[in-house]
This record gives sequence, structure tokens and C-alpha cells, in this order.
Amino acid sequence: MSVAALVLAAGRGERLGAEFSKAFAPLAGRAIVVHSLAALAEADPIDRVYPVIAEADIRRWIALRRQLAGIPKLEDAVKGGAERQDSMAAGLSALPADVTHVAVHDAARPLVRPEMVERVVLAALADGAAILAARVRDTIKRVENGWVVETPNREECFAAQTPQVFSVEILREALAKARQEGRTGTDDAQLVESLGVRVRVVTGDVDNIKVTYPADLVLAEQIIERRGAPGGFG
Ligand code: CTP
Ligand code: MG
Repeated sequence: MSVAALVLAAGRGERLGAEFSKAFAPLAGRAIVVHSLAALAEADPIDRVYPVIAEADIRRWIALRRQLAGIPKLEDAVKGGAERQDSMAAGLSALPADVTHVAVHDAARPLVRPEMVERVVLAALADGAAILAARVRDTIKRVENGWVVETPNREECFAAQTPQVFSVEILREALAKARQEGRTGTDDAQLVESLGVRVRVVTGDVDNIKVTYPADLVLAEQIIERRGAPGGFG
């Protein structure tokens, strides 16, 4: 059994509105992507960590050399694609043949704790597919054309996070099926679900937020401050 992590950092971060990709935006003294890579590398069951970087950001990536120096298990960067799913696919194709399981993580979730990464990886090693997800705080409404059509039981509603961890074989098959049908998922698990494969849910921390808007960066700084000195490779 060999577990690889793909840290997807090849987006542009348009909603953050910075003049460069958000994976490179500073958070508590380190680039967002460095926090994410460090958290994944720190999780025991992960053997190798692959950053997925946009071609346009290669210089920025090289400039992170010093921040990356202490991170173990780090492999060479893989070139990302136009959409998130393309970047995931590029990472998946770059994995060596001996990798049996893959943890797909959004670089934009720099606050994931290594303990949570471990828990979701162990669930996937046992059951083939597992994701981190947090209980929702609001009541969820399914809405069509401005009208509520359904109110699912809140106790059954979770917000999907990353990492999402799969057997490589399952994720490859799911991606091939999605491509054939011209579908894109808003997360990776969705592709796997549509194969009919059951996906385990590990209840994650509500503070494993995705940095999307400028206010999220402020919140992320506060969460790190509250947790104390940044652990790991600061
Ligand atoms: N991502 C990627 N390749 C893409 C698009 C997204 O690797 N072509 C990554 C992002 O870097 C991010 C994660 O997927 O870590 C989740 O995507 P999102 O939060 O949407 O980030 P961006 O696409 O960068 O932001 P925006 O949608 O605001 O432009
Ligand atoms: Mg995006």
C-alpha cells in the first residue's frame, strides 16, 4: 500500500482578487500552498506529496524554495490544467504505478490538521473512498427558480471538504466515466459516487475552511492565531 497526496494549487483565485494565484498569497508568514503541503506531509500514512501548479506560476513556485525546504515527502511539481478537474487528472497521471491510494486536497484549505488527514486516509484504506465533511450550521433549502422545493433533514447534511481519498483504481475509473459523459463534478467524490461506489464520511473541523474571498484570509489568520504558533515547518 502506498499513499500519495495531490495538492491542487493551479487555480487563479479570481474571487480572492489578488494579483497572483491565491496559493501563493501569504498567510501567517507562509504561502497558502506551503501550509497545505506541510499538513499533508505531516500525516503519517501519506508517503509522497505532489504539488499541482499552473504553468504560469512556475517562477513563483521556484521562489518558494526556502519556505518548502523543511517539508518531507515532497515530489516535483506537476503542471495543472484549465479546470480543477483537469488539474486533478494531471496529478493522477503523474503518480507512479506503485501508488495505491490518493488523497486529493485543495491547496486553498491550508488549515486542515494532520490528524484529520490521517483519519480520512485510514477510512479510505479500509473502505476505498472517504472524504472529510463538516456538519452544516444552517438549514439547507433546495431551491428551483426561486422556490423552495425541499428541506433536507439538517442532521443529514454535511459540507464536503478536502482531503478526499480514494483507491487510485476507483478514481481513475470515475474520471474516465465522467469524461466519457462530459461531466464535471464540484468535488471528486461526486465522480466516484456516480460509479455507484459508496463514500465514507469522516466528520471534519468546521475551521478547515477554503480560502475563497478576502474575508476568508482574515478568518484563516485568526484561526491560526487561536491555535497558537504554526506547527510543523514554520
Ligand atoms: N485548482 C486547480 N486548477 C484549476 C482550478 C483550481 O488546481 N484549474 C485548485 C485551486 O488552486 C484551489 C482548489 O482547486 O486550491 C479549489 O478551487 P477554488 O477554490 O475554486 O480556487 P481557484 O479556482 O483558484 O479560485 P477562483 O475559483 O476564485 O478563481
Ligand atoms: Mg475555482
